[in-house]
Amino acid sequence: MKELPSLFGRVTSVLTDHARLRETVQRLRAACRPPSGPPSDSLRELTVSFAVLLRDHFSAEEAEGNFGEICRQNPEFGDVIALRRLEHDQMRGILDDLDASTFRLDLADLATVVSALLSLLERHEAEESALMREFVAWKRPG
Ligand SMILES: [Fe+2]
Ligand SMILES: [Fe+2]
Repeated sequence: MKELPSLFGRVTSVLTDHARLRETVQRLRAACRPPSGPPSDSLRELTVSFAVLLRDHFSAEEAEGNFGEICRQNPEFGDVIALRRLEHDQMRGILDDLDASTFRLDLADLATVVSALLSLLERHEAEESALMREFVAWKRPG
């Protein structure tokens, strides 16, 4: 049986996920605001695949073996993690709205909604990466 990754391994994998998410955010930003002209037609399909990626990412972070384990090992991180969970819920609400509207909104309006979501996500991910780095530093012996 394959051994499960350590908590350190899981935290590192979340940091890798963040790097991947940053690339997707850049593609979406470019589709929302091309250097000239209106938002790109690819914005709708990109938004749909982004929603899948983001929901999976939030679920992986919220897994008992990740956020839950961090809180168990150091309860001082509990309040900060509770805040990150609330932000996930807020962004899931926007994704739910987008499920219903991605193919109905005109491209300019879709670009406005997606851009606002990306700004929320970027702030959230910056806070979360800082938290993960703090946790890894706290875990490191010596
Ligand atoms: Fe998160
Ligand atoms: Fe994250």
